[in-house]
Amino acid sequence: MVFDEEMIQRLYASLPEKIAQIKNKLQRPLTLTEKILYAHLAENEPIENYNRAVDYVNFSPDRVAMQDATAQMALLQLMNSGRKTVAVPSTVHCDHLIQAHIKAETDLKTANETNREVYDFLSAVSNKFGIGFWKPGAGIIHQVVFENYAFPGGMMIGTDSHTVNAGGMGMIAIGVGGADAVDVMAGMPWELKMPKIIGVKLTGKLSGWASPKDVILKLAGILTVKGGTNAIIEYFGEGTASISATGKGTICNMGAEVGATTSVFPFDAKSVEYLKATGRSSVAELALKNADHLQADAEVIANPEQYYDRLIEINLSELEPYINGPFTPDLAYPISEFAKAVKEKGYPQKMEVGLIGSCTNSSYEDLTRAASVVKKAKEDGLQVQAQFIINPGSEQVRYTAERDGVLAEFESVGGIVMANACGPCIGQWKRETDQPERPNSIITSFNRNFAKRADGNPNTHTFIGSPEVVAALTVAGDLCFNPLTDSLINAKGEKVKLTEPSGYELPAKGYAVEDAGYIAPVADGSKVVVNISPESKRLQILQPFTAWDGKDLIEQPLLIKATGKCTTDHISMAGPWLKFRGHLDNISDNMLIGAVNAFNNKTNAVLDPSTGEYVAVPALARKYKAQGIGSVVVAEENYGEGSSREHAAMEPRHLNVKAILVKSFARIHETNLKKQGMLALTFADKNDYDKVREDDRISITGLTTFGPGKNLQIVLTHSDGTTESFEVLHTYNQAQIDWFREGSALNAMQK
Ligand code: F3S
Repeated sequence: MVFDEEMIQRLYASLPEKIAQIKNKLQRPLTLTEKILYAHLAENEPIENYNRAVDYVNFSPDRVAMQDATAQMALLQLMNSGRKTVAVPSTVHCDHLIQAHIKAETDLKTANETNREVYDFLSAVSNKFGIGFWKPGAGIIHQVVFENYAFPGGMMIGTDSHTVNAGGMGMIAIGVGGADAVDVMAGMPWELKMPKIIGVKLTGKLSGWASPKDVILKLAGILTVKGGTNAIIEYFGEGTASISATGKGTICNMGAEVGATTSVFPFDAKSVEYLKATGRSSVAELALKNADHLQADAEVIANPEQYYDRLIEINLSELEPYINGPFTPDLAYPISEFAKAVKEKGYPQKMEVGLIGSCTNSSYEDLTRAASVVKKAKEDGLQVQAQFIINPGSEQVRYTAERDGVLAEFESVGGIVMANACGPCIGQWKRETDQPERPNSIITSFNRNFAKRADGNPNTHTFIGSPEVVAALTVAGDLCFNPLTDSLINAKGEKVKLTEPSGYELPAKGYAVEDAGYIAPVADGSKVVVNISPESKRLQILQPFTAWDGKDLIEQPLLIKATGKCTTDHISMAGPWLKFRGHLDNISDNMLIGAVNAFNNKTNAVLDPSTGEYVAVPALARKYKAQGIGSVVVAEENYGEGSSREHAAMEPRHLNVKAILVKSFARIHETNLKKQGMLALTFADKNDYDKVREDDRISITGLTTFGPGKNLQIVLTHSDGTTESFEVLHTYNQAQIDWFREGSALNAMQK
């Protein structure tokens, strides 16, 4: 057994009393989201009617999951936390670093060689701190979590935005940065802005070519990539009961694409079947006893407009398959309108590669439904016209699908089964193509389709569909093919229509696996040694950041005044930098290289006033650091939006940037800066941004009396000797001021 049964038993045992207390206090019916969130309020956090999308509230999640790219920095920080073991059950999953190239076995061998150092590190730290380790090849984090850990009414955080997948099992599961994961693993409360709740009522029943994926593809078109911001999407209505547990996972997974905090489905008979099929009958029994607490109250369902901030209704019986894209997941087309759009917009009509997999759609049900399409096509004399790639979601799914002849169906039509890993979904795809720069179209069952994401080629038009639609378009090799209405010509010259997909929610003979890929930590990890070579290019022990010296900051040079959008991607790029996620010094060479300099509108070219030359941002910061001088970054609105990666806060801290002064912050990034002991300040008057000159020296005073709600002062010393001063705001509470004084939240935690 890999899951923590005792923890789940404790939660369910306390649930009836907790829910009674919450209702007693709030005096109103509760949505499912509220039941789970309020049941996970941190100790000493009062039960009260928190203002949605306004109030910050502390929670105590039940577990933490980390994938191999983000786990590196999280675990390096955990090593400095002073903890001996993690405070809540936690797991690490090796899925992002495996490149899809030839086929599963070969690629896994290559990944094990290339990433050996990182895998050894992750496994040793996991062993030391009592963290479950899922080795390379075990599967994609969210599929493995779904099969083993997700449970109704639970709450988890994960260092990956698609952690939300577990909502399909009735869990509130939220993607966070590594520093948040460290807080929870260290037993500290975790803060979240109380979300709004979007109710999505599902009526009717899916049939024919329509699948769970189409529910979220349609919803993405309605909500757009921003429509779910600061909200949890809660599904309800009789339509939910007919969707398999993994299908519900698919729908919740892509809630990340509309910006939702997370999504959640009620507990039902499908959850019971899935829990039992995945060896968790005891959890199913406990959940059944608490069934009333694992769904919204009847009054909420009867009058949803009163309890949800927004209400959307989707009739599954009328739902058409959707195809979304290219370049954004919210460009949604019902399949009946897609061919017209392809022609009008001039997208390359030839469909070159079909890819099935990713954490979104790689379940047993997904594979069997897609396989049924190619099997019937083959029997009808059709030949598959495009390249076909399949990444199973987990070793358990792969093994079972192989046993049941499902993978053989794909292989019989030329499909290549790649490793149980993210692969092309995260750009880990060495695509073989004749003309790499040629505009081309591919279709995937994944969740994201931003330019360059799958194969690094900006000319690749990536569309998203269900696995069965991916299979159909791969057979046709034509983006304009609609399997509901169109025919294909087989080898005998006959017109053939593809047969509607059919599959199995769960394997008839049960799941099977020889080696699921799980390595449990030793009971006592105190003797486990974690080795990091000082020569390593990929890993580096974190040195605690130095504490504040007790003085105001006097005449620090401006490093960059950025203009326009400055997301975490602008501050700390991904792509080729992924390999340095465990090495703070090396990855700091990408610091702010994507930010646009307000004085010359160029990226990565800032003035070095001592030479008059324009140099790379990290190079100038390193020069100042070597001279023992700090620096200041100035920027505009919503600084640090996007991913929650803490590298964007750690890199400036590492390169001796003292303060980030902006018009406004994205909240998670602002917190990340505070956690790393940085000064995160905002202009009291946004027009003061214009006063900052390229060769200014910036003083920040008031730090000796730094207190909650007390403004600080900025003095700009211009090169002509004149000065200008103005007030700046901050949102530090007393605990966060202690982080600043101690040098970081980790330093404060150790005290
Ligand atoms: Fe991996 Fe893609 Fe999911 S990168 S975790 S399969 S979104």
